[in-house]
Amino acid sequence: PVVAVVLAGGVGSRLYPASRGDRPKQFLPLGTDSDESLLSRTVARLDFADEVLVSTRPAFADEVPEHAPDTEVVVEPAGKDTGPALLYATWEARRRVTGDADTAADPVVVCLPSDHHVPDAEAFAAAMSRGARVAADTGALVAFGVEPTRPDTGYGYIEPGAQHGGYADLAAFHEKPDAETAREYLAAGYRWNAGIFAWTPAALFAAAHDTPLAPLADALEAGEPKRGFDAVEPISIDYAVMERADEAAVVPVDFVWDDLGSWDALERVLGGDAHGNTLDSDALALDASGNVVVSDDKHVSVVGVDDLCVVAYDDRVLVVPKAEAQRVREVVARLKGDG
Ligand code: GDD
Ligand code: MG
Repeated sequence: PVVAVVLAGGVGSRLYPASRGDRPKQFLPLGTDSDESLLSRTVARLDFADEVLVSTRPAFADEVPEHAPDTEVVVEPAGKDTGPALLYATWEARRRVTGDADTAADPVVVCLPSDHHVPDAEAFAAAMSRGARVAADTGALVAFGVEPTRPDTGYGYIEPGAQHGGYADLAAFHEKPDAETAREYLAAGYRWNAGIFAWTPAALFAAAHDTPLAPLADALEAGEPKRGFDAVEPISIDYAVMERADEAAVVPVDFVWDDLGSWDALERVLGGDAHGNTLDSDALALDASGNVVVSDDKHVSVVGVDDLCVVAYDDRVLVVPKAEAQRVREVVARLKGDG
């Protein structure tokens, strides 16, 4: 069977001040005219899976069912980024499918972020099924590779190796390079990591034993998740596992895809007006171009400025050049817990 695991435990710091505290990005209706949250739109395109689990941290556990009613929620003992979260959820997926540690019936687990814009659900499902099959057939950790269109520093980059039918060996994985390195990767024909992975629990655990996640892998195998989470530092799956993986593959995908993780993405997803501005319905732009303006119920005007993100939510205002939208996480880090 195929089990989809949806990651919905991040705090979404690059979408501050809309995303804050108990209102992370996955619960917000970003990049749509409807009031459907990113999480509920994510869950709506998982028909390819036999079962859906939503992975989250304790603080968000109560709200997940409002956005994902027909799913099971897996609550990790503590929010420690996607590395620990995915190892734990994959372990849970196996437990739920096999009842016990009977690896013969290992499911394929497809792990998906909840901050993506994917308009073509059919093409998406076909690609997911393809990746799940590669994971089952090869026992590799399978990443999905998107054709890059710019040297984005917010993504992981994948160097494809030897080609097989419908997939390639993953020769190297580089998470979030600096701008110059990203330009080199683009020129060298690397792909963006879509942030979606397919693997069997056996494959992930075998790989995790050679990584900073090893104490958690050991503890989970001993049936002690709490002890395991105490023993690891926060780290993403990209840095912890994918950059180190020997047995990994990449399935190229060509469905329309974007990550709604930072304010500049809204322009790509919603499209700008004649002046390239992406504006809330009531915002005013005079002699201004290329700006992204978003607010809850404020009336925002921009005059004579270009290529800015201007965001006003609650009693907070953020202004950042579009090209530096990834840096918003620095604001949240500075504000510490009260972001
Ligand atoms: N359960 C759980 N627990 N989920 C988490 C946690 C956690 O502690 N931390 C983050 N998440 C969830 C987020 O809610 C999001 O849905 C997903 O994990 C990915 O986190 P992001 O913070 O959005 O990652 P990213 O966009 O910077 O980078 C990843 O995705 C890119 C493509 O979208 C990486 O995999 C990159 O390599 C990739 O290119
Ligand atoms: Mg993201």
